[in-house]
Amino acid sequence: MNETLLRMGTGVPLGRSPRIALFVEEGGGDWHARQLKAAMEERGARVVVTTLKACAFDTRLASGIDIPGFDGLLPDGAFVRSVSTGSLEQITLRLGILHALRECGVRVWNDARVIERCVDKSTATFLFQKAGLPVPPTRAAEGIATARRFLAEMAHPIVVKPLFGSQGNGVTRVANESELPPADAVGDVYYTQRYLRRTDATEFMDWRVFVSRGRVLAAMARVGETWITNIHQGATATALADDAEQMEQMSLRAAAAIGADYAGVDLIRDEAGRLLVLEINSNPAWKGLQSVTTANIAVSLAEDFLSALAEPVA
Ligand SMILES: Nc1ncnc2c1ncn2[C@@H]1O[C@H](COP(=O)(O)OP(=O)(O)O)[C@@H](O)[C@H]1O
Ligand SMILES: [Mg+2]
Repeated sequence: MNETLLRMGTGVPLGRSPRIALFVEEGGGDWHARQLKAAMEERGARVVVTTLKACAFDTRLASGIDIPGFDGLLPDGAFVRSVSTGSLEQITLRLGILHALRECGVRVWNDARVIERCVDKSTATFLFQKAGLPVPPTRAAEGIATARRFLAEMAHPIVVKPLFGSQGNGVTRVANESELPPADAVGDVYYTQRYLRRTDATEFMDWRVFVSRGRVLAAMARVGETWITNIHQGATATALADDAEQMEQMSLRAAAAIGADYAGVDLIRDEAGRLLVLEINSNPAWKGLQSVTTANIAVSLAEDFLSALAEPVA
């Protein structure tokens, strides 16, 4: 029997196609969502593409959760491609829905706890360190005074990142105090990190490793003309060259430290050439990565997710 036809959480046969909620960006699914939907449908799932923004808690429903397209019933699984940006209240409600689905035994891929751990760069960095992984010298704290002290202690440029940033947006290099972003630009939280390049560096590279269910699906080196090497910032994807094994092992440990079902792990080398875990993404894009690998990333993601539906939700 196709194991995706098992009732999630109990191993009891569903006897029908699993019904999946695919949560995408507000305003509709992107290329990634379309790939995922097609891959899941090819494997027998019924997929409703919707957004967390349109979901509700409603005590008039037996389930208490209203997801568009499910008539008050629960899905068999939920794949989170995006939570979408929003106010603190909106994000809290959306994550609340994801937490609630897991509480009801629905497999949520990645679940709210993982998303929270990845979105907050400081928690992710802490968990990497706790797991014994090498991380850059980093301090996350409130108030600009703490950032000034960190800069002085490093005696080298630092990087200030938005606590909730992605795609390289808002990442700033700071060589002297006057360049520190103002408190209102960072919500008065300064995630500060040693700048891991020589100040005269002209070539910039880091690595992205895409992990799913405890294995590496694909990996790439990202080469940029500027020091911020996100694909979104114009860097070029190339195949992984040296040290692939070490990078893959480190990335698998990073994803495990967070408990991520799937994740994009960023690795970087410091000036001495030491490989470090830079950050992790719980809703990673893979278009750039797909261009340098023959493996079909969406298909593997869909297979991993659907096969997990048969297992109990912790
Ligand atoms: N400490 C650092 N030293 C040098 N470059 C960095 C550092 N931190 C980030 N970068 C560069 O900026 C990019 C974006 O940083 P990252 O931490 O991955 O945040 P984002 O979530 O925006 O991708 C990285 O891919 C890397 O090229
Ligand atoms: Mg990154």
